[in-house]
Amino acid sequence: MAKRFPPRQIEVFEVGVRDGLQNEARAVRFEDKIRLAQGLIDAGVRRLELGAFVRPDLVPQMADTERVYGAVREGALKLGRAKAYALVPNRKGLDRAIAAGAKGIAVFTAATESFARKNIGMSIDESLAVFAEVVAEAKRKRIEVRGYVSTAFGCPFEGKVAPKKAIAVVERLAKLGIPEISVGDTIGVATPKGVVDVMAPLVTRFERKSGKKTRIAGHFHDTRGTALANALAAMEVGVTILDSSAGGLGGCPFAPGATGNLATEDLVYLLDGMGIRSGIDLEKLSATSLAFSRLLGRPLSSRYLQAYASACEARNEPRGALR
Ligand code: HMG
Ligand code: MG
Repeated sequence: MAKRFPPRQIEVFEVGVRDGLQNEARAVRFEDKIRLAQGLIDAGVRRLELGAFVRPDLVPQMADTERVYGAVREGALKLGRAKAYALVPNRKGLDRAIAAGAKGIAVFTAATESFARKNIGMSIDESLAVFAEVVAEAKRKRIEVRGYVSTAFGCPFEGKVAPKKAIAVVERLAKLGIPEISVGDTIGVATPKGVVDVMAPLVTRFERKSGKKTRIAGHFHDTRGTALANALAAMEVGVTILDSSAGGLGGCPFAPGATGNLATEDLVYLLDGMGIRSGIDLEKLSATSLAFSRLLGRPLSSRYLQAYASACEARNEPRGALR
């Protein structure tokens, strides 16, 4: 059980600009991406992903990541107190991140061999060997590193994943000296029991016994409607970092059937209602996501956002204009 539940505070790690957009079928204009990122930061998001230094031919929506960092350098995107991260799969990705001036990166592997191969073209062992060099060099450059273990609960190719298998990969990533590891339900199959089975031992081992040397985050996709329940289960066992995506955008192009992430609006609504601080202003966040959904020309999956949109319409309030 958690030392304290509900916790006083949850760190919301916003993945909308990366996980959210990487799976969009239609190209998202660079200017709209910057507006979305700025709206999220202005709503109080303190940590967010801005892109991915992966192969642009494989993930075209992330091909403009250098340009996004250019906007940060030029002041067109103002981070303020927010910390930005980008996915880095290998040395080439790290070199791109360094050249772009990134101060935070996230390396990513999987709990299952088939998904690691499909996603990053490496076995789990190979990915960890590559990350050892990436992490060491990032540390030399004072770049913050986060890690992901995808398919921690289920895999589109191998089915159900045994908790000990996922836990073992998290432990191997932690041994590389990565201070924060996000445990991913890539295809949204987890239920709260599975979350407890994987995350309770990790929190005990890494956050309690080792004095918070490695922090554990939860990354839940909402494909089967269990993401919010899973987030709550994770909090109950002591997880205090939760990944989520504006409007519930998201999905992985290499995971058939994967849909959006836990929506940031739904998460913040829950946190507000439980008196848990996130630092995010739900009204500003919702206005940003609603405006972005209009730019995309479709409603987003966040339930809170849908209710917000209906309420705005009923009151005839023209919310959702991105500045
Ligand atoms: P590869 O083809 O195996 O790499 O790709 P390679 O080393 O064999 O190189 C082949 C070519 O790619 C070379 O170019 C390299 O220079 C180039 P050539 O010499 O032929 O002209 N290359 C690169 N170009 C740009 N940036 C790079 C890079 N690396 C090599 N970093 C690689 C391996 C990992 C790069 C590739 O498989 C890839 O980009 N995969 C995309 C993975 C991805 O973005 N997946 C989605 C995000 S993960 C996710 O969504 C899950 C998560 O949300 C958590 C969860 O939900 O569980 C994080
Ligand atoms: Mg994801």
